[in-house]
Amino acid sequence: MNASPSTAEALRGALAGLLDGLPPTQAAQAVDRLISHYRGTVPTGAPVLRDRSDVAAYAAYRMPATFEAVRAALDALRAAAPGWAPDTHTDIGGGTGAASWAVADAWGSSARTTVLDWAEPALALGRELAAASGIPSLRAAAWRRSRISAALRVESTDLVTVSYVLNELTERDRTALVTEAARAARAVVIVEPGTPDGYARIIAARDLLIAAGLTVAAPCPHSGACPIEPGTDWCHFATRVSRSSLHRQVKGGSLAYEDEKFAYVAATRFPVVPAPARVTRRPQIRKGQVLLELCTEDDGLRRETVAKRHGTLYKAARDAAWGDEWPPR
Ligand SMILES: C[S@@+](CC[C@H](N)C(=O)[O-])C[C@H]1O[C@@H](n2cnc3c(N)ncnc32)[C@H](O)[C@@H]1O
Repeated sequence: MNASPSTAEALRGALAGLLDGLPPTQAAQAVDRLISHYRGTVPTGAPVLRDRSDVAAYAAYRMPATFEAVRAALDALRAAAPGWAPDTHTDIGGGTGAASWAVADAWGSSARTTVLDWAEPALALGRELAAASGIPSLRAAAWRRSRISAALRVESTDLVTVSYVLNELTERDRTALVTEAARAARAVVIVEPGTPDGYARIIAARDLLIAAGLTVAAPCPHSGACPIEPGTDWCHFATRVSRSSLHRQVKGGSLAYEDEKFAYVAATRFPVVPAPARVTRRPQIRKGQVLLELCTEDDGLRRETVAKRHGTLYKAARDAAWGDEWPPR
């Protein structure tokens, strides 16, 4: 399921005004600068988002996509823990607040959110966007300057989100962050780009969360070893994001949307019911049958062919999407 149209629209609305007054070429240049930063050496040792035009470019260009990716990961957590909702939430490396918007959307605005980041301009813009959201929990969120390092201490909280942050940290700081998140929270959701490197960081984080005593809620059907042989493939998913006019300007072309690829792990300290299997590729629909690539609880990676004669299951397979649980609950 995607985000509710109202929250996604509220975000789009809040972002729309951001680049007003900035000549389009200047906005595109700010995005180009950011993209080349992220292609360059990370971790950076100092914030990449240094001033208002950096954070405005980041928010306008990336926030709708990171919001949708986190939203999809939260949906998977909700499916595994249907009775649970966080009262408190800490968004570490939260930047302009994409994951906080996703949490407000997923649980109907009930959580008290604290956003931690070392980039003051990102926090300032996040606060502004939240104020324009019309969503009470976002408007009430606390925005605090905090550096992720071995010295990071996080107050006890129900949910920690860490979205598109691990890539910016040294391995030592990544380990410190995930270990501290696992200590402080009842549920931890970590999202990274859906690349082989992003997946490798998610697997390393997953190992740390399990070692700290948490149970994997999603996407995996179990907390055992990942069945993907290192270097042969990577577990990732996709969510559809509407392209803004800034996107079209920077990337060219006229497509109205693009697919954001992401990898994630959600783990909890409380009992959950993970999916028995998850669809790990876009299903292939053939005449009278659907081919599903699955990661399963008992059988590792497996292909399942669902044919017309399977009746309602066939109907469900035709509706199944990459990333869905299988069979649907
Ligand atoms: C790619 S942005 C992601 C922002 C947001 N979580 C999202 O999903 O859109 C990475 C964020 O991590 C923050 N960050 C990177 N290294 C950090 C550190 N050592 N301490 C605190 N924040 C850090 C950056 O300032 C930035 O806001």
